[in-house]
Amino acid sequence: MKILTIKEIFKKKTLINKKIFIKGWVHTRRDSKKGFSFLNIYDGSCINSIQIIVNNKIKNYKKDVLKLTTGCSVSVIGIIINSIGREQNIEIKAYSIKVIGWINNPETYPISSKKHSMNFLRKFSHLRPRSRIIGSVSRIRHTLSYEIHNFMNKNGFYWISTPLITSLDTEGSGNMFNISTLNENNISYKDKNLIKNNFFGKESFLTVSGQLNAESYACALSKVYTFGPTFRAEKSNTRRHLSEFWMIEPEIAFVSLNEIILFAENMLKYLVTSILNQREDEINFFSKYWKIDLIYRLNKFINDKFIQIEYSEVIKILQKNYKLFNKNIRWGEDLFSEHERFLSEKYFNSTIIIKNFPKNIKAFYMRLNDDNKTVASLDIISPGIGEIVGGSQREERLDFLDKQINSFKLCKKNYWWYRDLRRYGTVPHSGFGLGLERLIMTITGIKNIRDTIPFPRTPYNINF
Ligand code: 4AD
Ligand code: MG
Repeated sequence: MKILTIKEIFKKKTLINKKIFIKGWVHTRRDSKKGFSFLNIYDGSCINSIQIIVNNKIKNYKKDVLKLTTGCSVSVIGIIINSIGREQNIEIKAYSIKVIGWINNPETYPISSKKHSMNFLRKFSHLRPRSRIIGSVSRIRHTLSYEIHNFMNKNGFYWISTPLITSLDTEGSGNMFNISTLNENNISYKDKNLIKNNFFGKESFLTVSGQLNAESYACALSKVYTFGPTFRAEKSNTRRHLSEFWMIEPEIAFVSLNEIILFAENMLKYLVTSILNQREDEINFFSKYWKIDLIYRLNKFINDKFIQIEYSEVIKILQKNYKLFNKNIRWGEDLFSEHERFLSEKYFNSTIIIKNFPKNIKAFYMRLNDDNKTVASLDIISPGIGEIVGGSQREERLDFLDKQINSFKLCKKNYWWYRDLRRYGTVPHSGFGLGLERLIMTITGIKNIRDTIPFPRTPYNINF
């Protein structure tokens, strides 16, 4: 007999009175005085669990059914019936139940059917996908990833698998994990140049961004994107930083800053719309969980035009409101999270796009504006989270790029192939990076980025 998922059972209206076979885990068990037990079974295929009614006449009722606790795995053969007086309109009358796996020491099983704090769940990252909240995040994360590829494909983009191991620091911030095969045993202490003995014969790192490689392909295939894990060795132990996170990086040839901004806004709105359409149950669950109206908030995200504002204008606003901040900001300085929060949550109460930052606080590859002071850059700030997108038009003029490489004190030789893109048929091009986990925070209301990725990596935390 074919196993049906709980998702299929709720979807197919034609299954009423049909015999079915399911497998899953016990969420709760309740025994009535009339000789019945009610089991709630989930299998993760959707947010719902299904109620199973078990009659005490079933052979193993006393031996097994009455001993079931949260987390036991079972298979059930039964018939689907219409139920009365329940939120969900169907349930299963069991013919037989088999226990696949018991819970050893139910008293100490961490994932009970009660609500747990996110902090508690994090300590059991291997078991937490069994909770409704992490199960819901996982399904949303899947749908988002799928829709990212879908959106890109529909818009004529090619997916480029850029390398995770690199020798270049794309963002120039020095926050890279060094990779090495050298260890105490194979280091020759007489050797003055250890690096030459290392695996690649060169210093090598986990990449912070696939952008530079993506640019090479955009300068041939016009519209490309990378989507994969990226790594940052920042010692930022905050609720919005991970040491390993996933980034979507579109890169488009023949496109300027204003066009890439419009593209980013469209893409974000498409993705949020897809989640509202396909993951309504999960969004409703999160609304109840946090006691906020997420549907309203996400519809506002989709329907309001994102507010665009120049960096220089932002500084004027912040200076007028200096009393609200710990530190008075000056033109040329980067925004702190308190500034971003004030702007997006209080001043504009909207998703905002800040444009044209000073060249000194941004990366070397950004295109210099005619004012000689700012670069054609963008940051998208989401209320409650902060920066979710960072991007720019790229410097396509070789002489300008070389000046930047020099002023950032980068080694020109290492960028020979990147410079070649400017030497051979150069074109204006632009792109950005969207942090998948920060987008999940925006969509679900999750407050700590550690709860948006299966096994978070953060400073001093490499468990699981
Ligand atoms: O602003 P960032 O550093 O931009 C780049 O890496 C560019 N090379 C992207 C490009 O233009 N192709 O990072 C882009 C986004 C941020 O806006 C944020 O959403 C996310 O990546 N991000 C992080 N997410 C989680 N943890 C961290 N430590 C993050 N650092 C950046
Ligand atoms: Mg940034």
